[in-house]
Amino acid sequence: MENREIELEFSIKSGAPEKQRTACVVVGVFEGRKLSDPGQEIDRASGGHLAGILRGGDMEGKAGATLLLHAVPDVLADRVLLVGLGKEREFHEKAYRDAIATSVRTLRDTGSMEAVITLSELAVKKRDVTWNVEQAVIAAHAALYRFDRMKSKREDARRPLKRAVFTVSRRGELKAGEAGLARGLAIAHGIDLAKDLGNTPSNVCTPEYLAAEAKKLAKTYGFGCEVLDQAACEKLGMGSFLSVGKGSDKPPRFIVLKHNGGRKGDKPVVLVGKAITFDAGGISLKPPAEMDEMNYDMSGGGAVLGAFRAVGELKLPLNVIGLVPSCENLPDAHANKPGDIVTSMSGQTIEILNTDAEGRLILCDALTYAERFEPDAVIDLATLTGACVIALGAHPSALFANHDPLAREIEHAADHAWDRVWRMPLWDDYQDQLKSSLADMANIGGRPAGSITAACFLSRFAKKYHWAHLDIAGTAYKGGRDKGSTGRPVALLVHFLLARAEN
Ligand code: BES
Ligand code: MN
Ligand code: ZN
Repeated sequence: MENREIELEFSIKSGAPEKQRTACVVVGVFEGRKLSDPGQEIDRASGGHLAGILRGGDMEGKAGATLLLHAVPDVLADRVLLVGLGKEREFHEKAYRDAIATSVRTLRDTGSMEAVITLSELAVKKRDVTWNVEQAVIAAHAALYRFDRMKSKREDARRPLKRAVFTVSRRGELKAGEAGLARGLAIAHGIDLAKDLGNTPSNVCTPEYLAAEAKKLAKTYGFGCEVLDQAACEKLGMGSFLSVGKGSDKPPRFIVLKHNGGRKGDKPVVLVGKAITFDAGGISLKPPAEMDEMNYDMSGGGAVLGAFRAVGELKLPLNVIGLVPSCENLPDAHANKPGDIVTSMSGQTIEILNTDAEGRLILCDALTYAERFEPDAVIDLATLTGACVIALGAHPSALFANHDPLAREIEHAADHAWDRVWRMPLWDDYQDQLKSSLADMANIGGRPAGSITAACFLSRFAKKYHWAHLDIAGTAYKGGRDKGSTGRPVALLVHFLLARAEN
């Protein structure tokens, strides 16, 4: 049962669209029946054939519309696919990525083996050729992603689309295009891994499974990898982390990945990912509706592994550490109970008032463990709070940070990766909500500002370094009938690291 896929191959080319000897040339049409530049070239070469079709009213240029044309005169390609782009003035990042995805899906469904896609030449405000190609590769790859390893039969194993060529408008842009292609592919592969891990059900994707996946990655890319078991974590005093897994018979694992791409002695970036392979809530049991989605509660850890895959592929000249505390949060006779008090690795004691606020209990020990690397920056990723989904929905991840320059660096990377974040306050004023009469702190802060008090809790374990926290509860997966992992925020992490590698 494996996801065996024929991968779509990408390349970059410049040259006249009408002279492309290929199964299909894809050109964009803006609303108002306005052909993009490559479309106009094809139109001229074909003696106004496209303009005639547009005048006939078959394609207005609305976003998402497609029209496949055969036998366009004096064009070497077998077919021309017109793809609607929407209003030209509103053609931004999302419209661009959507148009690429629509093209690729249409090509797949109409049986083209290969295609030359000219949408990569479209102007997206403030973006350059490298960005266009990188995003095209990511969007195209994602459009063909499927997760069918759990199906007894593969639906339509035949996927004819094998090669996609993205065009740039001048020869001088080829180099920039190639750079975008390399980045895009590495990011796409990282996203794939995060998605596969997220989508794999928790009866298969256990803490041990994640550890085995980390070891595989380490072998492929030459990372260091250490997996701490229960006994090793006990020795370290990770009383908070270990308390969460007690109600499960799946043993906990604390995964450590090391990429030593930088100079010896260069302070590393540490990525920490929450990996609760299933979150039933524990004794503070969750209601049944949508509980299946708590399969995605390991998405922070999945994103760390995904980012490492990209880091390995790109051989980034940086030192990066990945920490993935992983266990399962279930109710049973051994489980944490409301009112229990545990001692974290930092020595601080925690009164567990709600066993469902378990993410912060595993992350706090990982944040303390991170100190030993004398990190330059620590970024944790976690599907931490439902409150985050209420506050921001599915579009940005929530960003919290104890250091403004680090926050700005992440905001910049997020914009560049088009994997967006929105900064939230981490004011001391909120810390009071975590007061406990019996222990150093409680693990919950009441209903108001739930994602902020969760971040405040973590901040108490991240005082020794520059730290940022991304609450990805709304962005890491989508629920419902079409549920699935999004692979976010792998792209953001890779861009953050790429920017650091360039400086
Ligand atoms: N994994 C959940 C957060 C979550 C909820 C992610 C919904 C995605 C969608 C987390 O462990 C949790 O249960 N948080 C509680 C905290 C509360 C008890 C303070 C929550 O958000 O309800
Ligand atoms: Mn929970
Ligand atoms: Zn959780």
